Amino acid sequence: MAESSEKYNKSPQNKKAEEASEEQIVHQHVKDYIEDLLPKHQGMFKEMENYAACHNVPVIQREVAALLKVLVKTAKAEKILEIGTAIGYSAMIMAEAMETRGKIVTLERNEKMVEKAMDNIRRGGFENRIQIIPGDALKTLHFLPGGYDVIFMDGGKGHYQEMLDLAISLLKPGGLLISDNILYKGMVSSEDLVKRRKRTIVNRMREYLEYITHHQDLPTSIIPIGDGVALSYKKN
Ligand SMILES: C[S@@+](CC[C@H](N)C(=O)[O-])C[C@H]1O[C@@H](n2cnc3c(N)ncnc32)[C@H](O)[C@@H]1O
Repeated sequence: MAESSEKYNKSPQNKKAEEASEEQIVHQHVKDYIEDLLPKHQGMFKEMENYAACHNVPVIQREVAALLKVLVKTAKAEKILEIGTAIGYSAMIMAEAMETRGKIVTLERNEKMVEKAMDNIRRGGFENRIQIIPGDALKTLHFLPGGYDVIFMDGGKGHYQEMLDLAISLLKPGGLLISDNILYKGMVSSEDLVKRRKRTIVNRMREYLEYITHHQDLPTSIIPIGDGVALSYKKN
């Protein structure tokens, strides 16, 4: 459902957003505090965080990694589908949080990312637990068998709705849909922050959020951490 952009137009409150950096969903002091509080990653995870920062690969933020670990554990997930592998960071975070029999299928269309992720997954010892399917998720999702406990939506930001339409039947009833970057650097909630070249992505993300928050079979909660995370439960 398309919404009029009036809903996101300037208001006294949005003026504040204008003053803030486009990158921030929460106040910097809150973000810094949470980051300081969370135990730092070591070894491969730290190495991958550094690689992502140096090469501008947009992987999940540490507070989102902490959330994923809790969600995956409490959902007792045995089968996870991830859309958007990048270097394999979030897939490995989730695999480590799952029971050792847990499996992840992750979809990635960028060949260089696939190569890098395969290398990381092998070095991390997850090659029997994480399967990368190379190619465009919008094609792969047509032939993928279902039965997933969790779907982590983290692929092309302008295509979440199309991906969800293809993936929703693959999620078990009672399963959890986690969508990342749904506030997209604050642009989704504030017109003031929207960059012209991001207009289509922002409009599509707003439509996606309208859709999942009003879907009768997907009760949804929006959490303003990281770049914004939506949690949706697929009703039985
Ligand atoms: C935000 S990154 C994923 C980050 C990763 N989940 C992490 O946190 O470690 C998004 C990835 O989705 C991939 N992507 C975008 N559109 C896609 C599509 N249609 N099919 C498959 N992969 C896609 C991009 O190449 C990129 O590597």
